[in-house]
Amino acid sequence: MGAFKKEEMVLKIVKYGEPVLEQPAEAVIEFDTPELHELIVNMWETMYAAKGVGLAAPQVGINKRISVIDISVGEDESKKIVIINPEITSSEGKQTGEEGCLSIPGFREPVIRANTVKVHAQNEKGEQIELDGEELLARAFQHEIDHLNGILFINHLSTLKRDIIRRKIKKLQKAGEWE
Ligand code: NI
Repeated sequence: MGAFKKEEMVLKIVKYGEPVLEQPAEAVIEFDTPELHELIVNMWETMYAAKGVGLAAPQVGINKRISVIDISVGEDESKKIVIINPEITSSEGKQTGEEGCLSIPGFREPVIRANTVKVHAQNEKGEQIELDGEELLARAFQHEIDHLNGILFINHLSTLKRDIIRRKIKKLQKAGEWE
């Protein structure tokens, strides 16, 4: 009784250039632990504070296969999705839409994605779950699962576009404006 309740915390979002963003994350093997629960609560806090629709654990410097998604950005509790150890099991169609990333702030580019995807994952308790997404939700699944494989949206752009963004980021880094 009297479990100590920790306060929710906004975590620091790491930016492009940090190696953790470009490494495959490790599978979660322990579920239903206070540590996992606390991380997920803090990931929600962090994502909403940054007004994002998704956040992957590597973006807060944690090399684990965990993502949170809410395409309603806090408007609809029922849209909150936690995916752990997720895999895309099928995808169909194509969509093109502007994409950004909380780890690459200030840059948005059109990215071609599958229009619908099926995702197999585990929830916070370790139970197997199957999810379907289309359009924006499908895009969010693909973007967030990419993060867990060390892939960023700029990896889907042409070499030319990616190099332009990289050069702009290098300038920001040199100016101390990319912390
Ligand atoms: Ni992102």
